Amino acid sequence: MSPRAVFVAGAGTEIGKTYVTAALTRRLRSAGPVLALKPLASGVAPVEDPAFADSDTARLLAAQGLPVTAATVAACSPWRFAAPLAPDQAAALEGRRLTLDEIVGWCRERIASAACPVVIEGVGGLMSPITDEATNLDWIEALRIPVTLVSGSYLGAISHALTAAEVLRLRGLDLRAVVISETEGAPTPPQVVAAAVARHTPVPVLCVGRGEQGPGALAAVV
Ligand SMILES: Nc1ncnc2c1ncn2[C@@H]1O[C@H](COP(=O)(O)OP(=O)(O)OP(=O)(O)O)[C@@H](O)[C@H]1O
Ligand SMILES: [Mg+2]
Repeated sequence: MSPRAVFVAGAGTEIGKTYVTAALTRRLRSAGPVLALKPLASGVAPVEDPAFADSDTARLLAAQGLPVTAATVAACSPWRFAAPLAPDQAAALEGRRLTLDEIVGWCRERIASAACPVVIEGVGGLMSPITDEATNLDWIEALRIPVTLVSGSYLGAISHALTAAEVLRLRGLDLRAVVISETEGAPTPPQVVAAAVARHTPVPVLCVGRGEQGPGALAAVV
C-alpha cells in the first residue's frame, strides 16, 4: 500500500495551519502513529531558549506526544531560521540558500520510509515563496500529495479560501478539504463562512472553532 500523506497549505499566513495540523495529528493519533512535519520554519528560537515552546515545531512535536530534543526537532524541521521572514529571505540572512529539490527529496524520503500517515505543514500562504524560485504551490506540485487548505473566518476569508482552492484545481492538485479555523474577533461565525465557501467548491469544508479540537471528519483528509 502506498504511504498516506497530506500537505496542509494556508490561504494566508498566521491563519491556523499549525493549529489545524496539530488537531489533525491528535485525531490521527487516536487510531495509530502519525508523523507531523514542518520542514521549513522561520522565526524559530534556539531549542534551548524558552521561546522555542511557541514554535510550530514544538507544537507539532507536542501533538505527536514527542519530547523536544535536538533529534526530534531536527527530524521534524530540518530547515529552521531565526528571522521571522519568508524562508528564502530568512535563509539568505544566514548565508544559506534553499533549493526545491532538496526540500522535496527530504519530504519524499520521509513519506516513503514512514509506516504511518504523514502530515506536512507548509509555510505562509499557498503562493508564499519558499526558495528564490519556488512557492508552496510548486512544492505541493512536485510532491503530488493530497492537500488540505486552511483558511480563517475573518472578513475577506471567503475569497482568500476560494482563490487558493481554485489555483490548486487549475494546477490539477488533489484538494481533499478546506478547513475554516475561527479567527479571533471575526464578525461572522465560522460555520457561516464555511457554508459560504462550501457553496462554491466541491470538496468538504470543515470548521474548527476557537480552542476546539476539530471534527472527527478531519482524519478523513489523509
Ligand atoms: N481554531 C483556533 N483556536 C484557537 N487558536 C487558534 C485557532 N486557529 C489559530 N489559532 C491561533 O492563532 C495563531 C495563528 O495560528 P497558527 O500558528 O496555527 O497559524 P499558521 O497558519 O500556522 O501561521 P504560520 O504562517 O506562522 O505558520 C496561533 O496563536 C494559534 O494558536
Ligand atoms: Mg504555522
